Amino acid sequence: MCGIIGYIGNQNATPLILEGLKKLEYRGYDSAGIAVFGDNSIDIVKQKGNLSALESRLEGMHLEGQIGIGHTRWATHGEPSEANSHPHLGGKERIAIVHNGIIENYRQLTEQLESKGITFTSETDSETIAQLAEYYYDGDIVSTSIKVANRLEGSYALGILSLDDPDMLVALRKDNPLIIGISDIGNFIASDVPAILKHTNQVYYMEDKEIAVLKGDSVEFFNFDGEPIQKELETITWSLDSAEKGGHPHFMFKEIMEQPQALEDTIQSTLYDSENKRVLESLDFSNFNKVVITACGSAYNAGVVGKYVIERLCRVTVEVELASEFRYKDPIVDDKTLVILISQSGETADTIAAMREAKTRGAYTLSIVNVVGSTISKEADACLFTAAGPEIAVATTKAFSTQLVLLYLLAFQLAEKLGSQTPEVLSELRSEVAALPGKVQEILDQVDTVQKYAASCVNCKSIFFIGRNIDYAIALEGSLKLKEISYIHSEAYAAGELKHGTISLIEDDTLVVAISTSQKLFDKTMSNVEQVISRGAKVLLIGNCPCGNTSDKLSCIALPQCSELISPSLSVIILQLFGYYAAANKGLDIDKPRNLAKSVTVE
Ligand code: AGP
Repeated sequence: MCGIIGYIGNQNATPLILEGLKKLEYRGYDSAGIAVFGDNSIDIVKQKGNLSALESRLEGMHLEGQIGIGHTRWATHGEPSEANSHPHLGGKERIAIVHNGIIENYRQLTEQLESKGITFTSETDSETIAQLAEYYYDGDIVSTSIKVANRLEGSYALGILSLDDPDMLVALRKDNPLIIGISDIGNFIASDVPAILKHTNQVYYMEDKEIAVLKGDSVEFFNFDGEPIQKELETITWSLDSAEKGGHPHFMFKEIMEQPQALEDTIQSTLYDSENKRVLESLDFSNFNKVVITACGSAYNAGVVGKYVIERLCRVTVEVELASEFRYKDPIVDDKTLVILISQSGETADTIAAMREAKTRGAYTLSIVNVVGSTISKEADACLFTAAGPEIAVATTKAFSTQLVLLYLLAFQLAEKLGSQTPEVLSELRSEVAALPGKVQEILDQVDTVQKYAASCVNCKSIFFIGRNIDYAIALEGSLKLKEISYIHSEAYAAGELKHGTISLIEDDTLVVAISTSQKLFDKTMSNVEQVISRGAKVLLIGNCPCGNTSDKLSCIALPQCSELISPSLSVIILQLFGYYAAANKGLDIDKPRNLAKSVTVE
């Protein structure tokens, strides 16, 4: 997910584009660039790093023009670098593009263009578009763009500048958001409203397979067959702040709501011709006699879920280690060990050190990371990328959910290679994973239920999360989510462990959140629920609920049906919302909780 913007009008485009990119940085912030129509040339300045790096690069430079395009990047193909940042210019320097999306058939197109003697200067899928446009250019940038679009497979929101079409800016949309803003100072293209809301609230929403041709005082729309189409101008009513959050009160809530798409993108990213698919297929498990998962915080909790799934399906022992412990404990790993490192940022100091420790001992390191170009993604022997997109809120939600999905798919691949599960079982589990985005959406459609319940725990001093087996693993994440944003003390316990001490803490109105998704263990978990209720606790049961047994002491939130092994991806949504509403009810700064940082780059 990147951010693109474009402007054509009677003002200098440079400051307008930089200002707009600043409002799009939540979409990607690892590199940025701008292209402006100069005197008979397209002048481009791009820079690795966030937007302020580009701004300092532009200081003292005279980049002026009344037409321009800009981009802030979230790397997917090619790590963050100046060459890989946008805008991309064709080899003849006559067409420049900015792109948000993924071109799935870029390898084939690149090979075909290289066979025509065209040289590429980046590792990106996006440069293919600029080179293809120059290759097809027929004197009319609109018909050229249609030819290009009909060769591209994948998703794209595009802004195109053509030296031979000095009075227009062209935009194309397929599967990625793009709006056209109409203002008194000229017209804009943008990935999202915040980029242009300062100048106008009058916008056209582009639909799939549409082209917009912008001039300083007009906009025309065409479909991909070149036929003119009419569109309705709409008025934005949001404030600037809420616009960045997509109309949601906090980035955390927005990111919770983005999970169906993040899951879909991550699942898809292992299915079609992709780096993830190649990495999964290239893993030779016959080399390993031990699996160790190591990470920090929520990523560690994802690892605990991964342990239950891999051990259940692959009959291989998995050790899960806190990275801050693993790095100093003289770990027993060697060249027969597969060490899996999980990290959203890819920059967590303890996890980096754990990775390097494992490598010095000859272990094979596989990382699961959300940020392309990050240290862990680069240094690990192999990397599986989650496709959660940029995660702004400190408390991870969508990145955590996408980590679970990659751990499931990794376990299925391992079980397949080891022959520890039948193809029928694995294809059943794979279709269950493919159905997750829909089931998560089902849960998100009933957030009020959780909101209502979370409201009753504002004055709770302590909350306990319990579960058995994989439910215990996800209880760990429920407890961390609540603690880090609501500042309410909470602990997660294996439900069967309570009676060995902790149950002494249960008193009247102590709140216990119990997760129960295993048919086999249901009665066991329910007897633990009865144990705490009989000592005065109130219980919120998440999972497959005992019909009709609710009371003032026992409330239930039912989950859509799915197998126990995949259930953490559903129960965690309730747990995230529970933590979120508990903090919201206390009016806390949910996106930036006290004492925490999004990426912990120190020991
Ligand atoms: C989770 O919400 C926290 N932000 C924190 O526990 C986080 O999971 C931990 O710091 C690890 O970060 P990483 O995934 O970027 O390595």
